[in-house]
Amino acid sequence: MSNYRINDLEHYFKAQKEAIENPEKFWGDIAEQNFQWRKKWNKVVAHNLAEAEVKWFLGAKLNITENCIDRHLKTRGNKTAILWEPNDPNEPAEHITYKDLHQRVCKFANVLKESGVKKGDRVCIYLPMIPDLTVSILACARIGAIHSVVFAGFSSTALATRINDCEAKVVITSDGGFRGDKTINLKGIVDEALKHMSCVETVLVAKRIDSKISMKAGRDKFLKPLLEKASDDCYAEEMDAEDPLFILYTSGSTGMPKGMLHTTAGYMVYSAYTFNNVFRPEENDIYWCAADIGWITGHSYIVYGPLANGTTSVMFEGVPSYPDFGRFWEVIEKYKINQFYTAPTAIRTLAKENVSFVEKHDLSSLKILGTVGEPINEEAWHWYDNHIGKKGCPITDTWWQTETGGMMICPIPFVTPTKPTFATLPMPGIQVCLMDENGKEIEGNRESGRLCIKFPWPSMARTIWGNHQRYKETYFITYPGKYFTGDGAMRDEVGYYRITGRVDDVIIISGHNLGTAPIEDAINEHEKVVESAVVGFPHNIKGNALYGYIILKEEDEHDKLRNEINRVISEQIGPIAKLDKIQFVKGLPKTRSGKIMRRILRKIAHKDTSKLGDISTLLNPDIVEEIMKGAL
Ligand code: PRX
Repeated sequence: MSNYRINDLEHYFKAQKEAIENPEKFWGDIAEQNFQWRKKWNKVVAHNLAEAEVKWFLGAKLNITENCIDRHLKTRGNKTAILWEPNDPNEPAEHITYKDLHQRVCKFANVLKESGVKKGDRVCIYLPMIPDLTVSILACARIGAIHSVVFAGFSSTALATRINDCEAKVVITSDGGFRGDKTINLKGIVDEALKHMSCVETVLVAKRIDSKISMKAGRDKFLKPLLEKASDDCYAEEMDAEDPLFILYTSGSTGMPKGMLHTTAGYMVYSAYTFNNVFRPEENDIYWCAADIGWITGHSYIVYGPLANGTTSVMFEGVPSYPDFGRFWEVIEKYKINQFYTAPTAIRTLAKENVSFVEKHDLSSLKILGTVGEPINEEAWHWYDNHIGKKGCPITDTWWQTETGGMMICPIPFVTPTKPTFATLPMPGIQVCLMDENGKEIEGNRESGRLCIKFPWPSMARTIWGNHQRYKETYFITYPGKYFTGDGAMRDEVGYYRITGRVDDVIIISGHNLGTAPIEDAINEHEKVVESAVVGFPHNIKGNALYGYIILKEEDEHDKLRNEINRVISEQIGPIAKLDKIQFVKGLPKTRSGKIMRRILRKIAHKDTSKLGDISTLLNPDIVEEIMKGAL
């Protein structure tokens, strides 16, 4: 693929320069040479960031499924597109070829059409990690319906909010799902969510666990008989470049979740381009992103990016701890995985276990390792590097967001030298800058500030579904004309970026700005610590002080540990960052995607537990009560 893959650092800097000086040519060439269009664009980009208005490939016509499936049929028809590994290692895997995928997507698309779904209609997908999830996403895209995938761990309230917000006409679900040794009753949750809703006309139900479920006459239909009789020929709807492709909800710091809207052409070009450069697939490689498709990582880097590149993408139904903590490594050995992409939380969890879980597997097929979703601390980075990559696989720490659609700052493996805990350099075309609190751009290196992006990129979200004003206010008002990420970052002496965490997690102590991520990093360096979370609480002399919640690997005398931990922090950051309060806990409240819910921890530290908000969507709601009991 010409003009697509960056070969070395010199090439990277050249591409970055070209992309900045002439974005129209840079992205126009990439789009033209690597994708299939029904009609070319009249203009590559039109934008007014101050008004939160962006369009890419104006006037172009295409269908993303033709790019992800049809165009591969001639040369890759019998190649596996989706390699599905079930929860139970004894159940057979499914190797879905590009030809099979084409057939399944067409059939599913016809079922959607028969259910009355038309271009522009919203379809909510609430499925576990089974092949029907990928197939239904692509089936929506085939006929121009807007998919809105809701992670199958969300509660009925969370699901109802999302269905309501986008007024979905159809919900696709299953009788249930497997996750480790548990089953989830998805259909029951859907029934509960739909109790007070009028927009949903049809619920399509896949069978996965063969449980007894209730089916509402006239509304609920089993998918299997419908798919069996559906035609496997389905015209790919002609879509405008800017027609919506999907909505994906992400939580804001306050209020309703935000339905981020992504459109067709720009999203396709950027997710495919970044996938190709960062994971560098060769024709016979097997690539595995262990995220859930319910998150943006799964949308861009299990489904669209890999398939647009004709890659074999592994889709894993299970969890890293089932049947034991060696599952990830077993799967890597089984399929000879070449590129592996996961989250720091998973790495930390597995690093806590005996290393024999890793060592009994042959991981020599691995070429590239990736992380995403949160800052990776130094200890986890080195564990990943030593034990999984055996010091021979570059680690790409990829910083991006639901809103950005694709990876924004990350090392390009074999091109950008890595540095632990640094996301390093922006992808070509991404114009990153740091801003100070007064709205001025911070020039030069060895500086910290708020991370913004100065120029649009193809896969940026175009709006918040139904609320453009909120989109504008959240991202484009703080620094007019710039996209504000909500994250803080540090730029080192060579211009590498390190993400220091959400700026709403920044705590000002005695006039000093402290990001929570580096403090947590320092704490986690202590040999007896597994994980920690630091929040601020009001202090009458310093303004704010620090409260640390810490999970221990092994017990020891608490006062002694408190002293030792503060000594490590003092050494690594300075005495200013010492914790005033340290509570040892058994777990930390986490979202389903593994993010620590600092809002809750902050409330507990503030001794204000009256309005904790909805904690039912947490991975581990019970831990909240336990932490409250032990609060200092
Ligand atoms: O704070 C950053 C953190 O995750 C946020 C975006 O979360 P979400 O929309 O759920 O998307 C996650 C998957 C792309 C960011 O604002 N974040 C994501 N990746 C990193 C990160 N923080 C540090 N390092 C990363 N590599």
